[in-house]
Amino acid sequence: MIVAPSLLSADFMNLESEIKMLNESDADWLHLDIMDGVFVPNITFGMPVISQIRKLTRKVLDVHLMIVQPERYVDEFKAAGADILTVHYEAVTHLHRCIQQIKAAGMKAGVSLNPHTPVANLSHILADLDLVLIMSVNPGFGGQSFIPESINKIKTLKQMAAEKNPDLIIQVDGGVSPDNVNELADAGVSSVVAGSAVFKADNPSEVISKLKSMDAGI
Ligand code: DX5
Ligand code: ZN
Repeated sequence: MIVAPSLLSADFMNLESEIKMLNESDADWLHLDIMDGVFVPNITFGMPVISQIRKLTRKVLDVHLMIVQPERYVDEFKAAGADILTVHYEAVTHLHRCIQQIKAAGMKAGVSLNPHTPVANLSHILADLDLVLIMSVNPGFGGQSFIPESINKIKTLKQMAAEKNPDLIIQVDGGVSPDNVNELADAGVSSVVAGSAVFKADNPSEVISKLKSMDAGI
């Protein structure tokens, strides 16, 4: 399981120590949530913060863009240090062009789906993608409850990927914890994003290890 803690729930007053903790942990990637207050009803941070994070870690920076017209900023996110750039299906008119842009810039390309967007909408572009991110909450905030229907979406996507792109990374984001990581893995997930389950815990690196080993601890 590729574990990607989401910095959204980290202590931003102590970001340096949070990142040092992640560097020492079993985390594979750092998941950075970029929100513009238009695509989602929340605003987070942008390139200057990503650049600073880049200086503090050698882990993969997995950047989840919840912004309209993300194609305008592909090169800037690359320059800031992004390794993986995931855009929302619902935020891009020319998705194929945007994916080619991301790859040409030297990053892995992902597409994220809101809870209501069918995975079938990716049928004709699946072979071009490195990653699909299934949102299991409505994007915008940490700490929400996992939407159970997401499991069916993951299973359907897994079937599609078996035919069109067996190397596809299936990532899930929203309401993930050690309590549901096994069910997610069984459905076909290869990467989990977790914000509040990690950073609100007394021992964040222990939660990361549980997600990594898919050990629910029960
Ligand atoms: C929500 C973000 C998530 C968020 C998940 O829009 O995309 O990455 O941090 O938070 P939790 O794990 O608390 O649901
Ligand atoms: Zn996210």
